[in-house]
Amino acid sequence: MKKKMISVIGAAVIGLNAFGGGAALAKDMHKDIVNVSHRGASGYAPEHTIAAYDMGEKMHGDYIEVDLQMTEDGHLIAMHDVTLDRTTDGTGSVKDYTLKEIKQLDAGSWFNEKYPYAAKAEYEGLKVPTLEEVFKKFGKNSSYYIETKSPDVYPGMEKELLRLVEKYNINKNKLLVQSFSPQSLKVMNELDPSIKLVQLISYKANAEITDAEIMEIKQYAMGIGPNHTYLNEEYVQKVVNSGLELHPYTVNDKERMKQLINWGVTGMFTNHPDLLHDVKKGQ
Ligand code: G3P
Ligand code: CA
Repeated sequence: MKKKMISVIGAAVIGLNAFGGGAALAKDMHKDIVNVSHRGASGYAPEHTIAAYDMGEKMHGDYIEVDLQMTEDGHLIAMHDVTLDRTTDGTGSVKDYTLKEIKQLDAGSWFNEKYPYAAKAEYEGLKVPTLEEVFKKFGKNSSYYIETKSPDVYPGMEKELLRLVEKYNINKNKLLVQSFSPQSLKVMNELDPSIKLVQLISYKANAEITDAEIMEIKQYAMGIGPNHTYLNEEYVQKVVNSGLELHPYTVNDKERMKQLINWGVTGMFTNHPDLLHDVKKGQ
């Protein structure tokens, strides 16, 4: 019911705004928008480092987003790519290295070289964190938005994730598990039906979704995470009115944030959680 009311308000605002530059937020629409620090505050610090996650919390991100890869010896680490090349000084596939080997790598200097305007000396030599270290550092009551990456490459990833969630007594009410793989989400759902799941979807052109697709996703997930680029008002309204949460990725522009909020999204991923925080405050 609440979602439907929000969408009705959104429709009214759509009638008032052209959604070009300077679009304003409808009163109170912003309050519950979920602010997800994408790979941490990765616009300001090397993605998937403790420094980036720390910054995300300081910048009022509601959730720490963690992408998972798995080492040769079965440890879950925080990393987006299946290979080490882009975000460390190593090369090759994560799955071919032990955790001890990956811990030798520098996961920060690439950022300083690629983004000199945001570079900091303290980023040099940062280590790749394990999921276990992330849980230890941020504790059981932080909000985590964890993605099972490449589950076909790492059979058993979901089971290991759940083992660590339980070992560290992570508050499942503040945990979301996301994946592009419906199969991975269904495995999670079978392992523990209480864990809330989000189906990621990548569109290459104008986003469309059928009633049948929504019904199928609702069998196991409470939300959808599409890339924001090809979204439109009709898509957003349809998904949100179905009762699903809608968290597009990755939105780094304040005007686009406002537009998506006015359309009715319920949260979003951003490399700049401070910008979304400003938008939510009406700035
Ligand atoms: O998980 C949302 C978004 O992060 C999906 O894309 O490639 O950044 O993991 P990616
Ligand atoms: Ca992700």
